[in-house]
Amino acid sequence: MKVLFMAGSSRKESLNKKLAHAASDLARCAGADVTFIDLADFPMPIYNGDLEDDSGLPENALALKKIFTEQDALFIATPEYNGSFPALLKNTLDWLSRSHYEGEPRMSAYTNKVVALAAASPGGFGGMRSLMALRLQMAHLNTLVISQQMALAKAGDAFDEEGSFKDDKKRAQLDALVKTLMATTRALAQDDTRA
Ligand SMILES: Cc1cc2nc3c(=O)[nH]c(=O)nc-3n(C[C@H](O)[C@H](O)[C@H](O)COP(=O)(O)O)c2cc1C
Repeated sequence: MKVLFMAGSSRKESLNKKLAHAASDLARCAGADVTFIDLADFPMPIYNGDLEDDSGLPENALALKKIFTEQDALFIATPEYNGSFPALLKNTLDWLSRSHYEGEPRMSAYTNKVVALAAASPGGFGGMRSLMALRLQMAHLNTLVISQQMALAKAGDAFDEEGSFKDDKKRAQLDALVKTLMATTRALAQDDTRA
């Protein structure tokens, strides 16, 4: 099973990258074929239809689309910006939703992927509003978002210098989320009659 891990932040010290990294380690231990991507490695212009008409999809959008298409499942850790998920993530999702060859199935980068969502915030609500907004977004993109999720509050204090959880309960919560993502992906792959 191939699972992609990413955060909706390109910040070097991103708490959400730490959360996605911790999740990818747990998935690897559980037997998944794990890919971690950092959006800092895939800069793209803000989507503009004229730009797309003139030069098609940016190289980095094509590269990311290929990576997404190869996955069975996605794990996205998102920051919360003003009650929603950041423009960086929205822009990336928008570019990847565009077709780049004739006859390409609609939403080919996303269709039938199983998705788990998480958020990390220094605040007390752990990015809960961002999770709600991203859940709607991912459902719209033809993915199957599992109901379990993780909102990591006070995330500035959650990790040690190696990026490991200080609190075993938080690690266990993330582990349960990752295992549910993998179990759901496995179950759907066994009897895949989805359109
Ligand atoms: C423009 C902006 C808006 C923000 N709005 C929220 C918010 O609505 N809720 C929240 O919990 N944190 C908010 N924050 C704080 C972020 O959660 C915090 O910067 C977090 O560390 C960003 O994620 P990262 O560490 O993965 O980069 C905001 C930060 C910025 C820069």
